[in-house]
Amino acid sequence: AAPLRIALAGLGTVGGGVIRLIETNAALITRRAGRPIEIVAVSARDRGKDRGVDLSRYAWEDDMTAMAARDDVDAVVELVGGADGPALTLARNAIQHGKSLVTANKAMIAHHGLELAELTEKAKVALKFEAAVAGGVPVIKGLREGAAANNIDRLYGILNGTCNFILSTMEDTGRDFSDVLSEAQAKGYAEADPSFDVEGTDAAHKLAILSAIAFGTRIDFASVETQGITRIQAADIAQADALGYVIRLIGIAEVDEHSENGEGGQRRLFQRVHPHLVPFDHPLAHVDGATNAVVAEGNFSGRLLFQGAGAGDGPTASAVVADLIDIARGDLGGEAGAPFSIQVSEMETMAPAP
Ligand code: HSE
Repeated sequence: AAPLRIALAGLGTVGGGVIRLIETNAALITRRAGRPIEIVAVSARDRGKDRGVDLSRYAWEDDMTAMAARDDVDAVVELVGGADGPALTLARNAIQHGKSLVTANKAMIAHHGLELAELTEKAKVALKFEAAVAGGVPVIKGLREGAAANNIDRLYGILNGTCNFILSTMEDTGRDFSDVLSEAQAKGYAEADPSFDVEGTDAAHKLAILSAIAFGTRIDFASVETQGITRIQAADIAQADALGYVIRLIGIAEVDEHSENGEGGQRRLFQRVHPHLVPFDHPLAHVDGATNAVVAEGNFSGRLLFQGAGAGDGPTASAVVADLIDIARGDLGGEAGAPFSIQVSEMETMAPAP
């Protein structure tokens, strides 16, 4: 069968991982996708940088946004990052040129996901972002497909690998915050601007995306109440420990069913990210390192726990390529590609929590 031809924009940690994964597991990917997935063109800000991967087989595009217009490309993988700028231009162009888009860009989806979803529905292509939330953990597929029949009224979890690595390492070793943050950066967990991690913004992006999928609401990143971990000190961790708790950065989203008859008859959506005391006997207390874990409570499934590596090249690449396999198989996601499970026009507008 004809290959799925892709263009790859962004060759950082995750981009390198995607190239290595597609090369290493080519045979099984072809079997499962029903056809080969072939990288045709690549682009990044700096052409000269040594990335430890051989790029000579791929066409180089200086202007990454031009990749969207290439006739020899079926799908674009955006791994540039940033809510706006070239990533957003590329995403819009790709969809408007009838190409499916796979992205790991949670900031872009949190801010512009609805606009991109509308473009996608019109163009009848796919918009997929499994890698944007919880790295290698298939939580979007799990909620969209596995829990599709459920009414989910509460969702919470550990959504930032860098913060979890910092908190659990400080706990185990007594090392200080900035020292452990440097290690997280060296391991490729942290965002280009690590304040997005430690201030809770990255977790808030992911929470807003998960809320839209779990509750069928319009993404509302602006109303996520957010507090990071920069003020947590070794002494706080020791005190929590003495009382039987660990400290974790937790994102929580829930729908207040009792406010249905509130102002305008709207239900309310609570979304918040903040450091939380987690008792030793709770499963989230044992989630260490750059691991993410998401708990969703479905009315028929009961409590579901999705857990695994939330950052890093291999896990995130694994989610990107899973999305590409879906596209190669012709699965655009719902009828005519509804990236959030339901069409944008059917999404509920919930009032943010007061
Ligand atoms: N910086 C993010 C994290 C990467 O630490 O979780 C994955 O989104």
